[in-house]
Amino acid sequence: MAREIVVLAYSGGLDTSVCLRWLQDEMDLDIVAVVGEVGQEHDDLEITRQKALDMGCLECRVIDMRQELADNYLTWAMAANAKYEKKYPLLSALTRPVISKYLVDVAHEVGAKYIAHGCTGKGNDQVRFETAIHTLDPSLGIIAPTREWDLLTREQEMAWAEEHGVPIGQSKAKPYSIDDNLWGRAIECGVLENPWNEPPDDIWTITADIDDTPNTPEEVEVEFEKGIPCGINGQKMSYLDCIYKMNEIAGKHGYGRIDMIENRLVGVKSRECYELPGPLALILAHEALEDMCLELEVLHFKPTIEHQWATLVYNGQWFSPLKNALDAFMNYTQQSVNGTVRLKFYKGNCTVVGRKSDWSLYDEGLATYGEGDTFDRTAAKGFIDLYSLPVTTWAKNQRSHGIEQ
Ligand code: ARG
Repeated sequence: MAREIVVLAYSGGLDTSVCLRWLQDEMDLDIVAVVGEVGQEHDDLEITRQKALDMGCLECRVIDMRQELADNYLTWAMAANAKYEKKYPLLSALTRPVISKYLVDVAHEVGAKYIAHGCTGKGNDQVRFETAIHTLDPSLGIIAPTREWDLLTREQEMAWAEEHGVPIGQSKAKPYSIDDNLWGRAIECGVLENPWNEPPDDIWTITADIDDTPNTPEEVEVEFEKGIPCGINGQKMSYLDCIYKMNEIAGKHGYGRIDMIENRLVGVKSRECYELPGPLALILAHEALEDMCLELEVLHFKPTIEHQWATLVYNGQWFSPLKNALDAFMNYTQQSVNGTVRLKFYKGNCTVVGRKSDWSLYDEGLATYGEGDTFDRTAAKGFIDLYSLPVTTWAKNQRSHGIEQ
């Protein structure tokens, strides 16, 4: 009798390679592997595909998800200036829903009963995958081999791999756990687990060390349409290309590193290092344009929604009614976020040095202290009298009780 099919989210790394063997040997399942091209650093994905086939997969599909990721996921992240705990730009959290979508599509296509992933039982990614998959199709079973097997340490896993003919390649030499995509890189584990240790130079691959950065500043113009980057230095390009281009420029100047302690959904604090040169520069520019184009109350209210959005997405609620509702808010606000921002990069810094927009609410006539002032100064006194009325009334009452401020 034919075996049941499981669709495995496969990266070619140690965990998912061991999963690939384990699902066949221990669960007696046939495998359709899916490798997501999300802009990660990788060797030839054809080799990864062949490795999966050599290990007995029915099929291994390499799917380029980058355009979909940029257009339908990273656009929302830009609108939301997405940063969990005000720092982490959600790079892993943003790819889980898009990968889940493809996994579910493939599962439907090949008639799979299960989807499997290689995430550990201690992280956020298991929550994100499983919540997304169950939201998209509750009838699919989910298998998380790393939560079931008793290969507790990396050494045990490698020993098991060797015993079962799983090629472990470079795994032995890898001192960190890395997740990366076109939004950036996340680096954990090894010496980083002691939060007092400074991140070693070798963890960074897309941001230059300051010693290696250019000795002259570089200015870059980023153009936005409805809140989404659509051109760099006067050249129109897709959002996806803007991200790639900015990663290159900002990375060259050593901008975009984060070293933080982060609160995982599963209750654990973890020490995380990230590098996202392009996205951090684009978000900085986006915020500068919002300062100019969003009306005061919207601008002041939006961070509350951004915080909620980032927390929801971090916690794996991409496909959820609250997320949809928050997106509707974001979408409305972004209609007027059109214009150009000039950034200056130098020695690990990125600063906003100019902005312009047809949708600007900045009125030089109102702002100026020079010629051409259009602000009605005579209205100010009455405004202040009424605006301060609550506090002056309170102070008067306090004084009647002998309390001076
Ligand atoms: N802490 C981050 C998050 O939960 C990054 C996770 C990175 N995953 C990894 N396998 N290194 O989104």
